[in-house]
Amino acid sequence: MIKNIAVLGCGLIGASWAAFFASKGLRTKMFDIDSATTKRGRDQAVKYLHRLVELNSIPQESLDEAVSNLQSVNSYQELLQDCDYVQESVLEDYDVKAEVYRTLEQHLSTEAIIASSSSGLLMSQMQLALEYPLRSLIAHPFNPPHIIPLVELVPGEKTASETVSAVNDFFIQLGKKPVVLNKEVPGHIANRLAAAVWREAIALLDDDVASLEDIDNALCHGPGLRWALMGQHLIYELGGGEGGYQKFIDTIGASFSTYWEDMQSWTEIPESAKTKAVAGTKELLETRSREQWTKWRDEKLVKIIQILEE
Ligand SMILES: NC(=O)c1ccc[n+]([C@@H]2O[C@H](COP(=O)([O-])OP(=O)(O)OC[C@H]3O[C@@H](n4cnc5c(N)ncnc54)[C@H](O)[C@@H]3O)[C@@H](O)[C@H]2O)c1
Repeated sequence: MIKNIAVLGCGLIGASWAAFFASKGLRTKMFDIDSATTKRGRDQAVKYLHRLVELNSIPQESLDEAVSNLQSVNSYQELLQDCDYVQESVLEDYDVKAEVYRTLEQHLSTEAIIASSSSGLLMSQMQLALEYPLRSLIAHPFNPPHIIPLVELVPGEKTASETVSAVNDFFIQLGKKPVVLNKEVPGHIANRLAAAVWREAIALLDDDVASLEDIDNALCHGPGLRWALMGQHLIYELGGGEGGYQKFIDTIGASFSTYWEDMQSWTEIPESAKTKAVAGTKELLETRSREQWTKWRDEKLVKIIQILEE
């Protein structure tokens, strides 16, 4: 039974994870190698909890208890005492993760689970640093984890199937929507899909097909609306009418070949595109500050999630 959580790394994702676990009544300790970040991370997690109350995601009555579930600590030793589950959210770098895992195991019970938030590294590679790799896996959230339900569970070569089922059950119980990969690939599922869309969004901008705002609008007001409800496969099953997915593949789907042939396949963002992309988003920040956009996003996200839960 998972009761005591250790959040390791208190940057953007660690702070948000901490708010999530604390909001679910779990004792959550937080530690970052940089003590100022540990403190800032806890303050940020407390802010997130207040926001969750404002958004009606958690009741006002449970706020004090949720805040008291959050404890910032000053060492690995304190962090890992009595810990059942570690959510590691340190920098996305094999060397940093390896060093962290070696330190972790000096203080952690062999029963405790180690879950990495990694956006796209391979667990098998990270497991090389672990003496007890059976209890480790990737549990990749989508930003911000205190709101977005998806968690991708990715086992490495040495992960025990019991570890995957235990973490899957744990997240289902907490109201998350875990998906389990059969095998590891760089970027898991969601970030590979995001990478495909992102490359095209950048290529369209670089090729002056439309403005950055219109490219983003084309995504939000069309496909994005459906994507909140169903994935690409089901969408095209419905897109084929009575003939279903088979008909879609044979008719409209066949014309996609012309698009794919015309699309870019680069693996490094061209310099010209970087400049345009960064300048374009700066303009968007003139209408609302980054903080205002984040607040706006989170309010709408919670409403969408509530609709989906109806
Ligand atoms: N940013 C995102 O949108 C996002 C989304 C999902 C998953 N992730 C994943 O989450 C992880 C963290 O990403 P982030 O965006 O929060 O990065 P971040 O830079 O905001 O935070 C990383 C933190 O790790 C700390 N750290 C570095 N070495 C450490 C050590 N040895 N011990 C303890 N703490 C240490 C740093 O001080 C920093 O505060 C990465 O693996 C990333 O791929 C990121």
